[in-house]
Amino acid sequence: MNKVAVVSGSNKGIGYAIVRGLCKQFNGDVILTSRDESRGREAVSSLEKEGLHPKFHQLDIEDASSIEQLKEHLVQNYGGLDVLVNNAGFAFKQAATEPFSEQAEVTVRINYLGTLAVMKAMMPILRSGARVANVSSLAGSYAFQKCSKPLQSKLQAADTIDAVTDLMTCFVQSAKNNTLETEGWPSSAYGTSKLGLCMLSSIIQKHFDADSTRSDIIINACCPGHVDTQMTDHMGSKTIDEGAETPLLLALLPPNVSEPRGQFMTEGKIEDWMKYEFNF
Ligand SMILES: NC(=O)c1ccc[n+]([C@@H]2O[C@H](COP(=O)([O-])OP(=O)(O)OC[C@H]3O[C@@H](n4cnc5c(N)ncnc54)[C@H](OP(=O)(O)O)[C@@H]3O)[C@@H](O)[C@H]2O)c1
Repeated sequence: MNKVAVVSGSNKGIGYAIVRGLCKQFNGDVILTSRDESRGREAVSSLEKEGLHPKFHQLDIEDASSIEQLKEHLVQNYGGLDVLVNNAGFAFKQAATEPFSEQAEVTVRINYLGTLAVMKAMMPILRSGARVANVSSLAGSYAFQKCSKPLQSKLQAADTIDAVTDLMTCFVQSAKNNTLETEGWPSSAYGTSKLGLCMLSSIIQKHFDADSTRSDIIINACCPGHVDTQMTDHMGSKTIDEGAETPLLLALLPPNVSEPRGQFMTEGKIEDWMKYEFNF
């Protein structure tokens, strides 16, 4: 059976460029996924015009049955999964008029809970040597640094998936109760959801490290940089192909590397996301 790579949210933006890069560099099938089938198939056609041959499968990371169908497809046709890039993500615009409580709920539901649902479904079918790249953001580092010291300690002490999920749930509840400030949370739904994603990556790496039935499975988180996509209203300075570079590096890590493992990378470099120094 062929090896296989899956990229979530790849009908446009950085995910689309990650598929393009994998089609050129990955030795196996590459599956472009999209929550909307017609947008996904259009993206596949457009890459075909470049002489590339991605496959298509529908995937809505908020929909358990959609995730399950993709998993079944992978098991039936490939017997497992070799590369997973959790790229799908969402951010409200600065000018959004939805109340912050709603923004917090929706953003955590997509970026954190949706990605976690895909991870939980795919973890059992990842083969030895598999690579997972979670497309997070330096906004997660920034959000962490804006948390109160007691909350930072709680976040640092969270060492299970459930503990991180509980904290994400607390953030949403706190936004609903209007107690973000007293509970020490930052006022960024996007940043907090990405903070959760950074935490997940190191915790899940420990699960794989303790798995005696499979070897050399590596998961990392990354920031693609500030990229010219719909999410940034095309204000980012990087092209989508430049934004895809770090996620691709993580998706294509050679066998048995000692690092990065369960870490965070931006601009091709490993960084301690909790202590990242912002120059602004
Ligand atoms: N652009 C930047 O500067 C930047 C910086 C840091 C991190 N990131 C991260 O990079 C990733 C890609 O962002 P981008 O800039 O390429 O954004 P984008 O152009 O808005 O693309 C986002 C992709 O995610 C998909 N998506 C959203 N909700 C989904 C769901 N429930 N299920 C499946 N797919 C879903 C979108 O599908 P639809 O087309 O159907 O909406 C789209 O394909 C995101 O995780 C983002 O947070 C981006």
